[in-house]
Amino acid sequence: MANLDSDVFVFFGATGDLAFKQIFPALQALIKRGQFNMPIIGVGRSPKTADELRARARQSLEKHGGVDEAAFALLSKRLQYVSGDYNAPETFSKLRKAIGTASRPLYYLAIPPSSFEKVVTGLAQSGCNRGARVIIEKPFGRDLASAQELNRTLHQTFPESAIFRIDHYLGKEPVQNLLYFRFANLFLEPIWNNNYIQSVQITMAETFGVEGRAGFYDEVGAIRDVVQNHMLEVVALLTMEAPIGSDAEAQRNEKQRAFRAMRPLTPGDIVRGQFRGYRSEKDVAPDSQVETFAALRLNIDTWRWAGVPFYIRAGKRMPVTATEVLVKLKRPPLRVFDTISENQANYFRFRLSPKVSITLSARAKKPGEAMSGECVELVVQHSSTDEMSPYERLLGDAVRGDALLFVREDVVETSWAVVDSILGNATPVHPYDPETWGPPEADKMIAEDGGWSNPVVTNS
Ligand code: BG6
Repeated sequence: MANLDSDVFVFFGATGDLAFKQIFPALQALIKRGQFNMPIIGVGRSPKTADELRARARQSLEKHGGVDEAAFALLSKRLQYVSGDYNAPETFSKLRKAIGTASRPLYYLAIPPSSFEKVVTGLAQSGCNRGARVIIEKPFGRDLASAQELNRTLHQTFPESAIFRIDHYLGKEPVQNLLYFRFANLFLEPIWNNNYIQSVQITMAETFGVEGRAGFYDEVGAIRDVVQNHMLEVVALLTMEAPIGSDAEAQRNEKQRAFRAMRPLTPGDIVRGQFRGYRSEKDVAPDSQVETFAALRLNIDTWRWAGVPFYIRAGKRMPVTATEVLVKLKRPPLRVFDTISENQANYFRFRLSPKVSITLSARAKKPGEAMSGECVELVVQHSSTDEMSPYERLLGDAVRGDALLFVREDVVETSWAVVDSILGNATPVHPYDPETWGPPEADKMIAEDGGWSNPVVTNS
């Protein structure tokens, strides 16, 4: 089974936001590459017809990437729709019938976490689980206990090798490049540790708020939405040791060790914020305490990283949309020429979005009589027109049963253990104005390490 491709693709949540923004565009792209020649079944609760779903697929593509008529014609032809309540056995009998003679289904649960269990039970009771693989969206559970429970439930129906926990960050080209850059460049290794690195900052800033998905967001908040998964995955890629081999398990084993070294966060390590106006959004509780911003300080308890603080910040309604990692190196040990302040020391900047780049800063002498210098940047920038979207890459991998870029059972549980004590109302939520960098409390936590470096986004 491990090496056999799936032969039918079934996605739950077919009329939802994720399908609209990500799944239809990924399917069209895979079909265009000739890599997705199987029936496609959308499942949803809305009583739509297959033609209505096809129309929605077209709208999705018009908005997200454009319609490729030839690929869309194939997508439309292969697309069916099964509607019904996820609690009702009839929904799954209809699905069983639609699957027909296919024997290796790939299910994608693009639905809220609260419905995972229902759907998995429905698949098991109807026999739809036989020979199948399942992709589960994040967040995988709400905390450590519920993630463990969800793992138990899934394992009653699917073996671990058939479970693909998706975190789309792992399918991003620049995120993969973090790992590549680290382990393909020997010059980095001698300095990639606490002898040379002063601190690391990761900022994920988004100008937009929770438009269209406030109902989901208000149950989740920034820590569960992006910190437990996307941000900690980035930390793991930055801090893990070289894997012994390039196969999926070798890499996932090292990553798990990196997660295990993250010291569980305590309330003193975090500042939560909520943008002013959030509570007036439709579907948000008027007294909501949910954070739309989180800033935290994480320690990694290994010989390589002891004493290097990892500052993470993620927020909605920030001044720019950008995600970047800033690795600040220490200053030279003694002053020989001009004074070099902490913020003038060398750094690496990995810009993960919007424009991908890797920057290494160095100091060079300014022309003139004085032995004083300035910061110069050496920049690597790729402009590829044929870049795969994360969902396209990950769906293609799941069809082939390649689990490398998916999150293993032990990893997901360890990542929840890191944030478990700071979830919910463990700390107060501070208001901040939209288009600012979060509440002032977040600045205090990093003051001794030179303050936050805010990503600068230019149009060029
Ligand atoms: C999703 C979160 O997982 O990632 C969103 O649910 C967030 O809140 C999104 O906006 C960001 O992903 P990307 O790929 O657009 O940077």
